[in-house]
Amino acid sequence: MPTMRLDKFFSSQEILSRKEVKAEVKKGTIKVNDTIPSSPEYKMDTDKDIVTYKGKEIPYKPYVYIMLNKPQGVVSATDDKINKTVLDLVPKELFRSDLFPAGRLDKDTVGFVLITNDGDFAHNILSPKNHIEKKYLVRLDKSITEEEIQQVEQGITLADGTVCRPASIQVIEAGETPLLEIVISEGKYHQIKRMFGVVNCGVTYLKRTQMGGLRLDEDLPEGICREIMHNELHKILLK
Ligand code: URA
Repeated sequence: MPTMRLDKFFSSQEILSRKEVKAEVKKGTIKVNDTIPSSPEYKMDTDKDIVTYKGKEIPYKPYVYIMLNKPQGVVSATDDKINKTVLDLVPKELFRSDLFPAGRLDKDTVGFVLITNDGDFAHNILSPKNHIEKKYLVRLDKSITEEEIQQVEQGITLADGTVCRPASIQVIEAGETPLLEIVISEGKYHQIKRMFGVVNCGVTYLKRTQMGGLRLDEDLPEGICREIMHNELHKILLK
């Protein structure tokens, strides 16, 4: 049985400090299975015991996984002296001090950013070996020919000589400033902008709409986060 001291439980969930747990235990505001524990050192079972604080159940979550619909102007970092970061958009009830974005979107890119405190999970998503697919909507500043689309799809060579893996492209709106959907399975720096740059197209709008098999919720407004449930997590690792 996975045991943990009560004060560690509260501090790991960033709800109360160890000192505060001591005071609250004395006041009788913390219960374990309807019983008031005798000490903050009480050893609880994180799988089975039901802990309440002031009558509210406190679930044990070692890791949190968050879907953010990132707006423009926000940076994918944990800390920035000038700009707002993706962590500034995490609401208090989901916030942990060890959160970080699993992968980066450019400041002007919008859409799906996964924020977690699970390093192993993030590593699996980001590892180039795993080729997790990411889907984007891209608006170009000029028309693109069928041959140029094929060139990008076949695994284009970037200006610095880096060869990209094949991508797949669907034209959503043709025309002078076409809207495309592109799926790539790697995450090089400014990758999509650089891929289209090779065929002399600028990117005027970029939105990540899917990571692995998990789509960004269509009704999640920009700037808003929601928790990703455990039964959805495996979808991200789908290829
Ligand atoms: N490719 C880019 O060029 N920018 C992003 O933010 C993501 C992918």
